Amino acid sequence: MDLETIQKKLEKKLKKSRYQHTLGVMFTAASMAMRFDVDIHKAMLAGLLHDCGKFCPPKDQIKLCGKLGLELTEIEKEIPPMIHARLGACLAEKEYGVEDEDILNAILHHTTGRPQMSMLEKIIFLADYIEPGRKMIPGLEEVRHLSFKDIDAAVCMCARNTLDYLEKTEKRINPLTEQTYLFYDDTRGKRSI
Ligand SMILES: [Fe+2]
Ligand SMILES: [Fe+2]
Repeated sequence: MDLETIQKKLEKKLKKSRYQHTLGVMFTAASMAMRFDVDIHKAMLAGLLHDCGKFCPPKDQIKLCGKLGLELTEIEKEIPPMIHARLGACLAEKEYGVEDEDILNAILHHTTGRPQMSMLEKIIFLADYIEPGRKMIPGLEEVRHLSFKDIDAAVCMCARNTLDYLEKTEKRINPLTEQTYLFYDDTRGKRSI
């Protein structure tokens, strides 16, 4: 399925603000792909589809996962906002015909990141956070700047900011976000690239 067809489909399925965010992520991912020598079309496709599982509330997402035979992890059951990533990766494959594993992984891991991400995974993780439509939060300017300069440092800071936010609001933390932060924390000398 080409980008335009998917865009039209998503415009109908997603609420207006989610669709606008999706376009923001798609174009931000394209810019980062130019910067980091990643296939631009792949980055746009992953950006466009990253929230395709978010077209209905978590309750309905859980039902749909059941219908599709998708097993949810314990942590996904505990933190329902995580579910759209797993559902999205499945729909990207089954409903939108994406076969590329790297794109499917970028969608699957876009909310938490993970250690040893591919360049495309890092781009989608960051583009979701920095796209122009995001409301200004502390640290966002710096992550935006770093995203085009030192992508691993940007991933580290983005994960750190997310952890700080979750701690402050006393929300449940997905251990994978912590692992992402620790892996990309330069002071630990564990970076992959
Ligand atoms: Fe998302
Ligand atoms: Fe998103």
